[in-house]
Amino acid sequence: MTFAGSALKILLMRRSIGPDSSSPARTTSRQLAYLGILIYTVCSHSTVATIVARRRDGNSNLPSIRITPIGFESLGVRSMCTFVETPDVKLLIDAGVALGPRFRKLPHPREYQARNECRSRIRTYAAKADAIVVSHYHNDHHTPNYTETVWVGSSPEEAEQIYKDKLVLVKDIRNYINFNQRRRGWMFQRFIKRTGGKCEVADGRSFEFGSTKITLSHPVPHGEDNSEMGWVLMTRIRCGEETFLHASDVQGPMSKETLRLILKDKPSILVLGGPPTYLKGVRVQGSSIERGIMNAAKIAKTVPTVILEHHILRSENWKAEAGPVLEAANEADNMVVTAAGYLNQPALILEARRQDLYTEEKPSPEFVKWMELPRDKRQLKSPPI
Ligand SMILES: [Fe+2]
Repeated sequence: MTFAGSALKILLMRRSIGPDSSSPARTTSRQLAYLGILIYTVCSHSTVATIVARRRDGNSNLPSIRITPIGFESLGVRSMCTFVETPDVKLLIDAGVALGPRFRKLPHPREYQARNECRSRIRTYAAKADAIVVSHYHNDHHTPNYTETVWVGSSPEEAEQIYKDKLVLVKDIRNYINFNQRRRGWMFQRFIKRTGGKCEVADGRSFEFGSTKITLSHPVPHGEDNSEMGWVLMTRIRCGEETFLHASDVQGPMSKETLRLILKDKPSILVLGGPPTYLKGVRVQGSSIERGIMNAAKIAKTVPTVILEHHILRSENWKAEAGPVLEAANEADNMVVTAAGYLNQPALILEARRQDLYTEEKPSPEFVKWMELPRDKRQLKSPPI
């Protein structure tokens, strides 16, 4: 199949579950516009083709679940923030974003730019959301209410804009949680209550909005069984015939039990956190990474659309590392894409390219001056970009 043919199939599928599927008439003209852009992008930038595996048969039922990726590694930041909309409810999952330490260098100005853009999208979509999910208390999955400018870009004002007066479906801080997350979660829940919001401990619970059912899983491991990193909640949304599943930080999944739960849910579309291949042999055992890849391949064999993201996209070589996953999807006529690919955009892999970015694009003298500030001062002053 040609790239143009594949592009058309993907666009047909986006009619049923996609960010721009509100009006059939508008959708048709948008599809043609997207098709033109996509063919141009694929033909003129073969190195940035983000559609990595394709599904042959598009789902042409009426749309009931629309997915909008908000923050992801392929959009230049550490995040898995996703906006989900059904006719009954609008939900923002994991309203957080962060940058990470890498190569003993601070993030490049382009990473800060991507973080600012992501923060702006989070604010916009939080304002539309009826409820916000916190899958766990890592800083790339919620926005804390203290000022930290180097990694998280958080402040009390930023957090208030996102969570004020909201229903927040949160991970329990008493069970299946490590010490750091319990402390952060306790502070976060106190803040939500102070700002007029309502926290609902959501582990293993379901919430119904009209004919939409939102179910949070029981805690599953953040990677390996008994991982020191703690536990996370997966979010399942059922509406009509469609099931969407968001699996934050399951890292493949590495856990056999998490794999079983994902397959049991039979999602039509899945946002999946891949394994941290960039830590292979350094902080994570090679065998765990390989298990994560093979489990993701088992998923790609049966789930029609997988948005594969997060830790695995912190490696420039991710396509080769995810080879078995992409092959499994191709063999089964399923689709594996990055969040950028889902949006028909080229992937913006920034963290993995940090060293190159500093060579290609020298930061301004103001930015260099900011980098030289003592750590405690730098954390309170936004980077000049
Ligand atoms: Fe994460």
